[in-house]
Amino acid sequence: MVSVTVLGSSGGIGQPLSLLLKLDPHVSSLRLYDLKLSHGNATDLSHIDTNSTSEGFNTAEIGQALKGAQLVIIPAGIPRKPGMSRDDLFKINAKIIKSLTVQIAEHAPDARILVISNPVNSLVPIVYETLQSMGKFQAGKVMGITTLDIIRSHTFLVDIIGRKAYSVEKLKDAVTVVGGHSGETIIPIFTDQKFYRRLRDSNVYESYVHRVQFGGDEVVKAKDGSGSATLSMAWAGYTFAKKLLNSLHLNTAGDQHPIPTFVYLPGLPGGKELQKKLNTSVEFFSAPVKLEKGIVVAVEHEWVDKLNDDEKKLIAKCLPILEKNIKKGLAFSKQTK
Ligand code: NAI
Repeated sequence: MVSVTVLGSSGGIGQPLSLLLKLDPHVSSLRLYDLKLSHGNATDLSHIDTNSTSEGFNTAEIGQALKGAQLVIIPAGIPRKPGMSRDDLFKINAKIIKSLTVQIAEHAPDARILVISNPVNSLVPIVYETLQSMGKFQAGKVMGITTLDIIRSHTFLVDIIGRKAYSVEKLKDAVTVVGGHSGETIIPIFTDQKFYRRLRDSNVYESYVHRVQFGGDEVVKAKDGSGSATLSMAWAGYTFAKKLLNSLHLNTAGDQHPIPTFVYLPGLPGGKELQKKLNTSVEFFSAPVKLEKGIVVAVEHEWVDKLNDDEKKLIAKCLPILEKNIKKGLAFSKQTK
């Protein structure tokens, strides 16, 4: 049974994500931390008739919120408004992530950390650099959540193919997403080339890729100034967390179906091979990984050998942008020591 802490639990993502975690049979204790409403939401959730407990903690109680947590999920920070890129969130969210990471290192140094807050491409490097400087970084335990892009890649494919022809469930193995989590760093790659050819032949490949890369803007626009994806993101965050919880709970090799997440490549088996195959020194990248006992144990790289020419071009465009985003995070972290 697993003890989970959500940092930023009262937000648009934090609330539905906490609800989903309260329903998960592998969670024994759910701790909610936010600047506001954490006690109220925890009391609310505590009436749900599942086996886990839920407790709320305010800013003075962050140590108790984190103590002994095995999994910490972070959706704390400001979301986008119309006209903003994820990068525009950097100034505020970088400071939040850095201070929360210091607290995690002190109170839950062995926890797995899932970073939802944006910009993921720059904030995961901040978590890395902060933990590294405190001698607490464990590469297999720090993951940036890019699952929403994967979920969108499935949904937008079935939007084109038609729900009568294929269920979304069947298309889940046809496409996934690698790279980073913003605009052109988001790269859908087809694991079933049949669907790639179908989109190419009907001249919708480019618009499909664009929709996967900028799908978040549809939500920001539709919410008209009140934020970005929250409900679909809560589902995406839980989808990843559930996979991790399953692998922790099974206490065995578990579910070996790899799922992409944004990780520090040089610290993981397969990471350096991936860098070599991509011909890059970029150190953080979202690639399919294997999870065991809730930890990333291997980064997949075989998928690079199967990329088509369009996907190779997308990767070539992604890498320099990703490199800039990563450098920005690392520079912030080093400056604010
Ligand atoms: P929100 O504004 O609704 O909620 C954020 C919550 O964080 C608020 O309750 C706020 O009080 C809390 N918070 C702020 N500073 C904090 C601190 N120092 N400690 C603890 N809590 C703190 O925002 P929303 O919509 O929930 O989004 C949260 C983040 O997730 C944003 O940065 C957003 O860009 C990101 N996001 C990430 C996605 C992904 O795919 N990884 C997708 C969608 C959003």
